[in-house]
Amino acid sequence: MPTTLQKFTALQVMHDAPVIPVIVLNDVAHAVPMARALVSGGIRMLEVTLRTPSALACIEAIANVVPEAVVGAGTVRTPADAKAAANAGARFAVSPGYTPLIGQACRDLGLPLLPGVATGSEIMMAQQDGFTELKFFPAMQAGGPAMLKAWSGPFFDVKFCPTGGVTLQNAPEFLALSNVVCVGGSWLVPADAVAKGDWAVITKLARETAALKKS
Ligand code: 3PG
Repeated sequence: MPTTLQKFTALQVMHDAPVIPVIVLNDVAHAVPMARALVSGGIRMLEVTLRTPSALACIEAIANVVPEAVVGAGTVRTPADAKAAANAGARFAVSPGYTPLIGQACRDLGLPLLPGVATGSEIMMAQQDGFTELKFFPAMQAGGPAMLKAWSGPFFDVKFCPTGGVTLQNAPEFLALSNVVCVGGSWLVPADAVAKGDWAVITKLARETAALKKS
């Protein structure tokens, strides 16, 4: 990878668009057209989850071939995941939970991390390690917008990206909250559209989503 690539903080990743798409790819051939489809619709921060055997190859393909995209890795659970993701060209990482080990690994790699939290204790642990931009996961299942409102008191200095059960329909309710910068969700990249190579559907969903406003 060229060393001149722009670096982004976790907060900049969150501020780029109203949503970070959560992407699951089974076939490396889908990576580049899928990334181009999202970029065409106005979404360039892309979270490719490490859930499939081809995930790292997909990250590498997007990093090498789609310079307009900023590809990150999701489902980063271990230091080894973080290292493999960074080597493949990931420019940020998202984890479903938080451990000091994953925090330190990402810091050592210079990889911005959006750690997942679902409780006050987890927020305090992540904050203690210097992370103040967090993913609220699984957002709908763990309390939804009401939980975020409750957290805005004691955790007034923390910003969230709620993910899990968020849709185009309920995203505005999250985006209206003062402690929410963006949301995460898989709805922009439906598995059937990817399987069929229906990239126009993904561009349309990205465009609709990119038009959501942070209020
Ligand atoms: C995930 O990690 O699967 C994300 O939270 C996506 O959840 P969603 O499919 O409900 O958007």
